[in-house]
Amino acid sequence: MTRKHVDAAPAAPASIDAFLAAQAGQDRLRFITCGSVDDGKSTLIGRLLWESKQLFDDQVAALQSESRRFGTQGEEIDFALLVDGLSAEREQGITIDVAYRFFASDKRRFIVADTPGHEQYTRNMATAASTADCALLLVDARAGLLTQTRRHATIASLLGVRHVLLVVNKMDLVGFDHGRFESIREAFEAFAAPLGFASVGAIPVSALKGDNITQRSTHTAWYHGPTLVGYLESVEVAHDPGQRLVFPVQWVSRPNADFRGFCGSVAAGSVAVGDAVRVTASGQVASVTEIVTMDGSIERAGTGDAVSLRLDREVDASRGDVIAKADAPLEMTDQFEATLVWMHDEQGLIGRSYELKLASQWATASLTAIKHRIDVNTQAHEPARTLQLNDIAVCNIACNRPLVCQPYAEQRDLGAFILVDRYSHATVAAGMIRHSLRRARNVHRQALAVTRHERERLNGHAGCVVWFTGLSGSGKSTLANALEVELHARGLRTYILDGDNVRQGLNRDLGFTDADRVENIRRIAEVARLMLDAGLVVMTSFISPFKREREMAREVVGKEHFIEVYVDTPLDVCEQRDVKGLYRQARAGKIPNMTGINSPYEPPEHPDFVADGARGDIAALVAELADRVVARPAPEAA
Ligand code: ADX
Repeated sequence: MTRKHVDAAPAAPASIDAFLAAQAGQDRLRFITCGSVDDGKSTLIGRLLWESKQLFDDQVAALQSESRRFGTQGEEIDFALLVDGLSAEREQGITIDVAYRFFASDKRRFIVADTPGHEQYTRNMATAASTADCALLLVDARAGLLTQTRRHATIASLLGVRHVLLVVNKMDLVGFDHGRFESIREAFEAFAAPLGFASVGAIPVSALKGDNITQRSTHTAWYHGPTLVGYLESVEVAHDPGQRLVFPVQWVSRPNADFRGFCGSVAAGSVAVGDAVRVTASGQVASVTEIVTMDGSIERAGTGDAVSLRLDREVDASRGDVIAKADAPLEMTDQFEATLVWMHDEQGLIGRSYELKLASQWATASLTAIKHRIDVNTQAHEPARTLQLNDIAVCNIACNRPLVCQPYAEQRDLGAFILVDRYSHATVAAGMIRHSLRRARNVHRQALAVTRHERERLNGHAGCVVWFTGLSGSGKSTLANALEVELHARGLRTYILDGDNVRQGLNRDLGFTDADRVENIRRIAEVARLMLDAGLVVMTSFISPFKREREMAREVVGKEHFIEVYVDTPLDVCEQRDVKGLYRQARAGKIPNMTGINSPYEPPEHPDFVADGARGDIAALVAELADRVVARPAPEAA
């Protein structure tokens, strides 16, 4: 079947790329729509597409017949069906993914991201908002402002969206009541005033009936502002300054000895042949001799272009490095303050490590402090010890290596990052850098004259960390003690860090919440690292219930020095032993978070050694373990 347009409008393009390619150079506005379930976003976007005549006749026919089958509007066309492409959405009646649509009026081209209103999909909104010039926040005139509306306005402002328009929808259902509109508008303007938008507006509409969308409504004589399309045509679009360059290197291409190209996409700004550029990590400067693309060489590349850069001299740059203009070097830091939007059911904890991705750079990172959480309704700052789903909070973040970055307010592409869970690979948070921490610049590692190797040589053996993990009462401390006696007898220098002891001194401030246990283990990993550096064989005896923190300890200590021993004793055996009477108390409901009872224990998946803690003969286990420790390579010769 050949497709015919309902009108003489230009053919609807097949993809966003085709759209952008066709419209290159024309004025275009990117905006997002957000709101709660049922605010009518899909209907609004459907209406915009319909009225801009970007539909095919078969789409219209399908829409008419589907409206009768699935629609909620009787014989009228249900515009929401046009936009709700996913069948799951039709069944559930909610929108569950970001969908980009494009349409045009006589004056401008538009790219609209339809973001879901469902609570847990805040992250999709964050994704879409990071490139938007303008945000349309939909509210139902009957319901007025909701917490979700305020959250979306807050996130939009954090993500640097400059203009926000409150679209007060379903005005037909409140009889186009002027007073109702004014009270919502005033409440919103008061709320949004401190958020720093360049403009804040409000408009009364009925997306379903078409009031104030392209045509001025006859029902709102009291409203003197623009129609929605009029607003979208006139709202100011920010233009890329173009003076800078952010080129994160994805890989280095070396097809033959003569060619070496740094491949990646221009994340921001532009680059031209002859430009002087700098590799940010090494500081090396070179000049661009060629810009190679799939279709041959070009003179200049702009934001979003995938290219290979050839330089006039050899420089050290590899994946994760960033190439910038030589006269506008970018900052590097390993600690910064950032605003985080937490997007995962699993809570965010200080001290837990995550993978951090910023432009094409990856690092291991952890929260070192939660400074405050923002109450999205009042914008008040509240104290917080952990981060829960949808929390917005200002935090300090520390990375295991310096990254090229910049405050988000100055440059979005080098100021935005995500945190990824190291096991599930789920994106747990989106972050916006506020500023780097002075301590990252002012604290430098002091080189020590005597090294670990020299201390180990004096001791006559290599140090290591034997990390015991298991339930309370599993026999960790008994085993660690017996191992120390054996090693001591064999002439090794040793020390034991034991949970019950350390918690009476260094970690006296910590209890047994998940957050405190993470911090407990973080400190122990750091202390064990120092003791290893002192040349000792360190035994640690902590429940250490979470695999993520045991993994962190392995990394902090260095995996070649780390022996993880899982003391595998069934819970019922530990409970029968109940040396400290804790299990009895927990069963009686007197201890709120006892490991194994009402607080989780994650057994190691690949421990270096499994000790069956229910087995009687400790001596055999100890001998085996001691042999492992002693069999480790001797300290290297000087
Ligand atoms: S960890 O989970 O943070 O690694 P750690 O090993 O330091 O725990 O401390 C565990 C010891 O604290 C247990 O052996 C037990 O004696 C005592 N304890 C007190 N309350 C609890 C609790 N709620 N859960 C586990 N252990 C507890």
